[in-house]
Amino acid sequence: MTNNELMNIPNSKCLLRIIAFAVVFIATVSTATAQHVTIPIETKSNALVLQVSPENYLNMVYFGKKLADKKEYNQLADSYGLSHNTDGYNSAYTSAGARNLLEPAIAVTHVDGNKSLDLKYVSVSTTKVSDDIALTSISLRDSVYNFDVILNYKTYFNEDVTEQWSVITQHEKSNVVLDKYASANLYLQAGSYWLRHYHGDWAKEMRPEEEQLNHGIKTLDTKLGTRADLFQPPAFMVSLNKNSTEDDGEVLAANLEWSGNYRMDFEVDPTNNLRLVAGINNYAAGYVLKPGVDFTTPKFVYTLSHNGKGAASRNLQTWARKYQIVDGEGPRLTLLNNWESTYFTFDENKLAGILKDTKTLGVDLFLLDDGWFGNKYPRNDDHQGLGDWQPNKAKLPDDIAFLTKAASENGVKFGIWVEPEMVNPKSELYEKHPDWVVKQPQRPEYYMRNQLVLDLSNPKVQDFVFNIVDGLFTKNPDLAYIKWDCNSVIYDAYSAYEKSQSNFYTDYVFGLYKVLDRLRAKYPKVPLMLCSGGGGRVDYGALKYFTEYWPSDNTEPLERIFIQWEYSYFYPALASSNHVTDWGKEPLKFRVDVAMMGKLGFDIVVGKLKPDELAFCQQSVKTYKEFSEAIWHGDQYRLQDPWSNDVASLMYVDSNQNNAIMFNYLVNNRYDTGSKLPIRMKGLNPDKNYSVSEVNLFPGAKSTITEGTYSGQFLMTVGINPDVREGRTSVLIGLKMQK
Ligand code: GLA
Repeated sequence: MTNNELMNIPNSKCLLRIIAFAVVFIATVSTATAQHVTIPIETKSNALVLQVSPENYLNMVYFGKKLADKKEYNQLADSYGLSHNTDGYNSAYTSAGARNLLEPAIAVTHVDGNKSLDLKYVSVSTTKVSDDIALTSISLRDSVYNFDVILNYKTYFNEDVTEQWSVITQHEKSNVVLDKYASANLYLQAGSYWLRHYHGDWAKEMRPEEEQLNHGIKTLDTKLGTRADLFQPPAFMVSLNKNSTEDDGEVLAANLEWSGNYRMDFEVDPTNNLRLVAGINNYAAGYVLKPGVDFTTPKFVYTLSHNGKGAASRNLQTWARKYQIVDGEGPRLTLLNNWESTYFTFDENKLAGILKDTKTLGVDLFLLDDGWFGNKYPRNDDHQGLGDWQPNKAKLPDDIAFLTKAASENGVKFGIWVEPEMVNPKSELYEKHPDWVVKQPQRPEYYMRNQLVLDLSNPKVQDFVFNIVDGLFTKNPDLAYIKWDCNSVIYDAYSAYEKSQSNFYTDYVFGLYKVLDRLRAKYPKVPLMLCSGGGGRVDYGALKYFTEYWPSDNTEPLERIFIQWEYSYFYPALASSNHVTDWGKEPLKFRVDVAMMGKLGFDIVVGKLKPDELAFCQQSVKTYKEFSEAIWHGDQYRLQDPWSNDVASLMYVDSNQNNAIMFNYLVNNRYDTGSKLPIRMKGLNPDKNYSVSEVNLFPGAKSTITEGTYSGQFLMTVGINPDVREGRTSVLIGLKMQK
């Protein structure tokens, strides 16, 4: 049996596994000390190189362009001066309480109260999962305590993406406490480090800030529990040596696949290298781990680009479409939503009218929002009814079936809003199950949006939430879409179910994922929109279960250009639900053009549209479908950003470089602003000709661009002036390759 085979022994076979580890341990100690085991983890362009030190510690010695001759990886530690670093600043998974005194990735209180951990290398195995995917697992073990960690690196070769996580197991006499349990601990060597991260609040999502990292620790984190990303999402980029631009510079783009409290520490160490520790936030969350049970951390996903932020974003977008987002390579449904057009005030007749409007508009689906449920406490505003998921008899006397039937009569689909993790204190659910609610038993309740969070660490609550959503589908087999909302953070964190309160924050998210796993096992592809009062939960942990997300309740189109722009660095366009609403003063065309650069939807009163406005919207839906392949599954290229230009410009090119669409928006309304020069395109085939025309014109408007045939080379070297200016504040240009 090889070391690799030994590593694949299932965890349940504990005794065998311990023996196996012992054998591998002995075997590898001798080879490691003799040979300095070097572990290169490669993707198409990059290598992350780990190396075992003479004392048998696992260190990270490199992350950069890969080398043709693998033997040369052995020279990296010397070249970077890392061989002399015996304090282990570059530990691949820094354990607390031993010789590394910098920020740890893992900290433990053992069963005897001792807080030291000193993880040493045991073995490595690499498994090829597919042509594109490989999994390298490295086993580490404490030499005193019966405590193991497996570091996992799953590489997506063609996408240059790696997912990293660890599995922690202990076989001590009783429970230990994981005081910190990060997913990843990276070590980067560069002359300088530039962090781009995001802050926000309701309706102010994804505001970027960029700064040079200096010595000490910069922490990005959240302690909000649910709606965890409200102030700060777990997405960031670090540029190396200089601040990267769209197409130039080395940049790491990353995201933590976790929908709860997270913490990422960026520590420039005494040797000027950057230590990055990312994982679940250990704030009030020391995790009590039973012997023999695996604790699997969330995955930390990252890509390294040598051609700026644009290439990094395309790596993540491609990876997400192929491997992470549900049905990422499939189509998306255009829709009409009624939130802003009715709020809570509707009945089935009004909805029947909206279903007709859905057909008139030409979109695929009608999405019924909040307000359809609750009888003892009807949900007529946001003060009551959450938790009571029975259709309100006054508004929907004929149940949801009336709506699915009316939808099919109109040839459209029907979807519905739920917020199943939450409860209003004024609800039958709260009256029946006060112990299912997260709140401090001895303190007054404190609310966000008049509601509280259900305790998803409790399996009974998990069943309840699963059954609510499953019940909607089983009772209404034609139900085609769900918007899953989450409008409150967790105040007064306390679980009546948990034996150990400090497990609660982490178990809440595991509980949520258990529910979503069960739903996805039964309904693998049904579209689900991830919403959290806007973008309060946009991360790749949640997006594993969803087809799309709601970036922000702020649908003012100028604002949306900035918000959608920044999200696009991490998430593909087909996942960005963009709705045309009445927010803002921009013309209808501008609002529609902005929504079209993602997944198009409407939330307007169709009956109020003037005839030419309705004709424009109908035409837009058709134009959108014509270019949807490029927008949904193509490559996105940012041409001019909205922060430093009067005109923001971006384009999508389909995978064959046949069809492309360019979006241009005026983002500065001062006198005489507009596009003065041609804007250079990207991603086209230089050797082919493209017919170029302005698309999505408002009825009666004439294009003022120089339409015609241009070579890809011309379009990428000289470009096209979209003639954006006052009166032409948004311009869409379609490109079709000539055969
Ligand atoms: C949240 C969502 C909105 C809408 C309302 C309904 O605010 O972000 O889109 O669904 O809830 O109450």
